[in-house]
Amino acid sequence: MSQQQWTAVDHYFTDLLAPADEALTAALRDSDAAGLPQISVAPNQGKLLQLLAQIQGARRILEIGTLGGYSTIWLARALPADGRLITLEYSPVHAEVARGNLARAGLDKITEVRVGPALDSLTALAIEHPEPFDLVFIDADKANNPHYVEWALKLTRPGSLIIVDNVVRSGAVTDAASTEPSIQGTREALEIIARHPKLTGTALQTVGTKGYDGFALARVLD
Ligand code: SAH
Ligand code: DHB
Ligand code: MG
Repeated sequence: MSQQQWTAVDHYFTDLLAPADEALTAALRDSDAAGLPQISVAPNQGKLLQLLAQIQGARRILEIGTLGGYSTIWLARALPADGRLITLEYSPVHAEVARGNLARAGLDKITEVRVGPALDSLTALAIEHPEPFDLVFIDADKANNPHYVEWALKLTRPGSLIIVDNVVRSGAVTDAASTEPSIQGTREALEIIARHPKLTGTALQTVGTKGYDGFALARVLD
């Protein structure tokens, strides 16, 4: 099996089941034009996030790691008219591109991009005592994944869904001796999901246009 084959299958699935529209196409175009890295979720992964948010009946979504707002658009489209999505982004440049993309998609009323290191934004957010989030999508600096899972636990309710992106990284996740902070962070996050009494979860490997990677999913228990 090769990257070429994974890409061909992804194009087939995406054209059929998760076709781009003007807002999604423009979001990627403007992200590229601004020099953002091409590390958004794939279209069929975006559709998966949207379906999970719908299955969850999500009214409030928290995203950690916005980039140009591509995954944000998929997630926010799952929300009802009075829903809310808060997305956290370190880079002011990325955040500005994302705001433009969300406005073009007609989602600026229900989405909010907060700029700064996510750990600071999460501390500030918690002080506001927000209503619990129904879904948290963790997709920022992987070294902080354990902290993000702990924060997600504080900001959710029993029944909420926590999703962690990029938990495979071409298989590097199995390297217990890895000194890479991103691998260590992801392994620690998975161990929290495994051991925490208030979480039950699993992880899946994915292949496709974005290579060989995967997601972890965890449900918050009573
Ligand atoms: N969710 C996006 C992709 C996010 S890429 C999508 O699928 O479309 C990861 C993003 O996390 C980048 O924009 C990066 O700037 C941001 N990031 C990195 N470290 C961060 C931090 N400490 N706090 C908040 N965002 C961070
Ligand atoms: C990277 C980050 C991501 O969130 C992703 O989905 C793919 C790659 C990265 O930092 O390389
Ligand atoms: Mg990612």
